[in-house]
Amino acid sequence: MSEIIVQNGLFHLRNGRMSYFFRLTGDGLPAHVYWGERLERLDSPLDRLFFESRESDYCHNTLELEKLPQEYPTWGHGDLRRGALEVTAADGSTAVDLCCEGYSITAEKPTLAGLPATFDREGGSRTLSVAYADAVTGLRVTLLYTVFDDCDVIARSARVENAGPRAVSLERVMSASVDLIDDRWELITLSGAWARERMIDRRPLKPGFQGVDSARGASSAQNNPFMALVRPGTDEFRGEAYGFALMYSGNFTALAEVGMYRMTRAQIGLNDAHFRWLLEPGETFTAPEALLAWSNTGLNGMSAQYHTLVRRHVVRGRYAQAQRPFLLNNWEATTFNFDEEKILQIARRGREAGLEMFVLDDGWFGHRDDDHSSLGDWTVNLKKLPHGMNGLADRIHWMGLKFGLWFEPEMVSPDSELYRAHPDWCLHQPDRTRTEGRWQLTLDMSRADVCEYVENAVAAILDSAAIDYVKWDMNRDMSPVGSALLPPERQAETAHRYMLGLYSVLEHLTARFPNVLFESCASGGNRFDLGMMYYMPQAWCSDNTDAGSRVLIQYGTSLVFPQSTMGAHVSHAPNWQTGRMSPLRTRVDVAMWGTFGYEMDLAELDADQLAETRADIAWVKAHRDLLLYGDSIRLLSPFEGDTAAWMVVAPDRSAAVVTAVRLLAHANERRERLRLAGLAPETRYRVEELDVVLTGQELMRFGLPLRFAPGDDQSLRFTLVAEQGGDSCQ
Ligand code: GLA
Repeated sequence: MSEIIVQNGLFHLRNGRMSYFFRLTGDGLPAHVYWGERLERLDSPLDRLFFESRESDYCHNTLELEKLPQEYPTWGHGDLRRGALEVTAADGSTAVDLCCEGYSITAEKPTLAGLPATFDREGGSRTLSVAYADAVTGLRVTLLYTVFDDCDVIARSARVENAGPRAVSLERVMSASVDLIDDRWELITLSGAWARERMIDRRPLKPGFQGVDSARGASSAQNNPFMALVRPGTDEFRGEAYGFALMYSGNFTALAEVGMYRMTRAQIGLNDAHFRWLLEPGETFTAPEALLAWSNTGLNGMSAQYHTLVRRHVVRGRYAQAQRPFLLNNWEATTFNFDEEKILQIARRGREAGLEMFVLDDGWFGHRDDDHSSLGDWTVNLKKLPHGMNGLADRIHWMGLKFGLWFEPEMVSPDSELYRAHPDWCLHQPDRTRTEGRWQLTLDMSRADVCEYVENAVAAILDSAAIDYVKWDMNRDMSPVGSALLPPERQAETAHRYMLGLYSVLEHLTARFPNVLFESCASGGNRFDLGMMYYMPQAWCSDNTDAGSRVLIQYGTSLVFPQSTMGAHVSHAPNWQTGRMSPLRTRVDVAMWGTFGYEMDLAELDADQLAETRADIAWVKAHRDLLLYGDSIRLLSPFEGDTAAWMVVAPDRSAAVVTAVRLLAHANERRERLRLAGLAPETRYRVEELDVVLTGQELMRFGLPLRFAPGDDQSLRFTLVAEQGGDSCQ
């Protein structure tokens, strides 16, 4: 049970396992005291022990504040580290001095104006709002904290209201700031590039700033909006880990600042580079939500908190808990070169193999025969699809398949009717070249008229045919960023206003088409974040579908995101991106750690491979509930060796599927045993592939043999089923 106890200026948020508390100093400044394993005692003197000087020293007019761990530091009145809130007032002054004015506690999880936010529909959370004010500017800051019953996560956000008489420029508004008392931490980030997304990077903290950000307009493949601070020695199963993730899809920053007293200030929020927000009297600015996870059972423990959060408090709609159709996408099979007949052939072969949905990718609209044109002109190309979208959708449905369609709604090609009609509808800056990426420009989603166009264009197609699924793509970063409609003093608001516009379009479309399954995509995984997940329950992990690469990408992704969010498909070999020839079996074993599908024309398989594929699809179908919604546990990291392994365990521990992939073969290898986790120790499990019955304890202590076939990229799969009626071995 989550609870919030407030006593003598001490705010204690806790659930069954975790406590988070802070207190107000004598003059109303929030000081961070503790975040970690649950503390039972309520009248603990800990917070008093904690102040190193006399408490009265930590007041608003001394430089001692630099020694005080704080909850939401501001700049300019004694603390010399980076503030969570930095502003410029109308007179040019920059100090802010927050003082507590009051608080409230509610059992209802608040929404955040215009932004995605975690929800709780079952009363399983408590939210604390603490109000602060700055007497000089008149700014009122409300800090929101939610503690959940079912996961060890604190959701934090900040709301800044201008209750003063003059406009204030917000220069930096973090969603959360936490001062950890020492600097003995290692920083983990998910960093990479296109086709190499979310690689796990780990490094010890050093004095000064470190962290990750994005100024690309999308949350980005370069750095996911996430970081973790872990104690040295923390591994998948042991050690303390503190995660910081932002529910946002645009520019962000996540940083750890080690100050001169060797404290660590961890912050996450909107990127303040190229950002400024003019707050007029009476206006309110809301920062996106930060999700702070804690675990003392290593990285798997932290991931379990995030996975529960995503499944129960982030993903919405009909597909939140439902099975996802196994899909067949034509992109790698045809790119732009298709017509209706070709599409129907590919779909028919998918149907025969047991797939459930056909997705038509890029190239169906305008005169788009390559990537040089037509984005923005969402009218069906009748040369390719003579029976229109409706005709194609009907034919696919008659086969017994669902039908899905690709869009890239936020973009415009210079060669398009839309651009010719509205050249000022794209992001740009006056008198400067409009930088193209993949021969396209980004629509200015900070504008209401552009948002309306985008929403209507997508809705018109969805209304015109029976479409069950949308792949919502976004294939370039934003640069230069500027809006033709905003005045000069508001140009630096464009990137955030873009996200607010996009979120409102997504809110409307997902509400209007509740039966459509939306999958987000951005050149693969350029926008794989909790913000998009609020609208779309799954996201295409990467344009790199090579099984070996995908092991790394999906392993990294799973640090925060459950497998039900990870789009993963079996594709052609040799692989498009890497040229590697992975066995079909490995491609299947890796793709089934995600929302399963195929990205190829099955006609390229020979008779044996086709038979194997039919059997594979039937097998994954038979285990789909377990695979999609079971608890995912990482066992061996591909970032630390040549073998990766993970398992998915049924929540009641009655079954599990274990997968291991050896990426690189060596001669005379040592014999490896793979020790499992998360099983019921006394339950007897039949390991189907080995035809043996072992107890959970034996599987977790002794393990299973890893005997791979010769060659690189070989996989092993073990299916564990609890013996009926013989639960206990004692
Ligand atoms: C992006 C996507 C791909 C595909 C192409 C189509 O790269 O990530 O999956 O849809 O666009 O142009």
